[in-house]
Amino acid sequence: MTRSPSEAFRAATREPHRRIETVPAMRCLLSSGLDRDAYRATLARLLGLLDPLETQLAGFGDVSAIGGRPRGPLLRRDLAALGMANRDIDALPRAAPPDWITDAPMAIGAAYVFEGARGGAPMILDRLFETLRLTPETGLGYFADLADPSRGGVSSVRASLDDWFAGRPDGDLADAIDSAVRTFESLHQWMLD
Ligand code: HEM
Repeated sequence: MTRSPSEAFRAATREPHRRIETVPAMRCLLSSGLDRDAYRATLARLLGLLDPLETQLAGFGDVSAIGGRPRGPLLRRDLAALGMANRDIDALPRAAPPDWITDAPMAIGAAYVFEGARGGAPMILDRLFETLRLTPETGLGYFADLADPSRGGVSSVRASLDDWFAGRPDGDLADAIDSAVRTFESLHQWMLD
């Protein structure tokens, strides 16, 4: 049986996903020793990649095509709730724009990486709540939104991907999957730097 587009995404990104979970700035989210400063540093680093990525994506459509929404604003709100001034958030280092994203399939591939993260978000949110005792309003907004069951979880992202690629040429899916793998790899490198 041939794989559905969403199964193909999942299979191709399994290994990069496994690697991202080992990066200290991500792994620390699950640690009982996590403190607010380390959590804030991880959010700040994520914003540094997500901001230029979302600007690039906006040139090729809207992440709502796979049921998503821009997530940079949620990170900014969390950082502010955790005590960062807006000018310091603006001054955080930003990654180079992902210039390999040059069409809508590649934009969808990159958006999948950040929307599919709904898969792990409920578990991460539970851990963060236990260790940090924050609420969505006081700093957990990014993960709470990803984990929100009313958004349909990762299965709804998979269904949107399958709809989006239905009837499109195979090359579009291949480009999108390459873009997802590349997005995982850039995130990995960025979180290590
Ligand atoms: C501590 C870090 C992380 C943990 C523990 C984690 C855990 C998980 C888990 C448990 C799933 C569900 C797998 C399933 O439904 O079978 C998942 C899915 C997913 N996660 Fe993560 N994750 C982490 C970080 C990330 C990051 C940083 C990203 C990208 C921004 C990401 C992107 C994804 C994607 C795209 C999927 C969906 C895979 C699919 O198509 O089913 N994850 N994650």
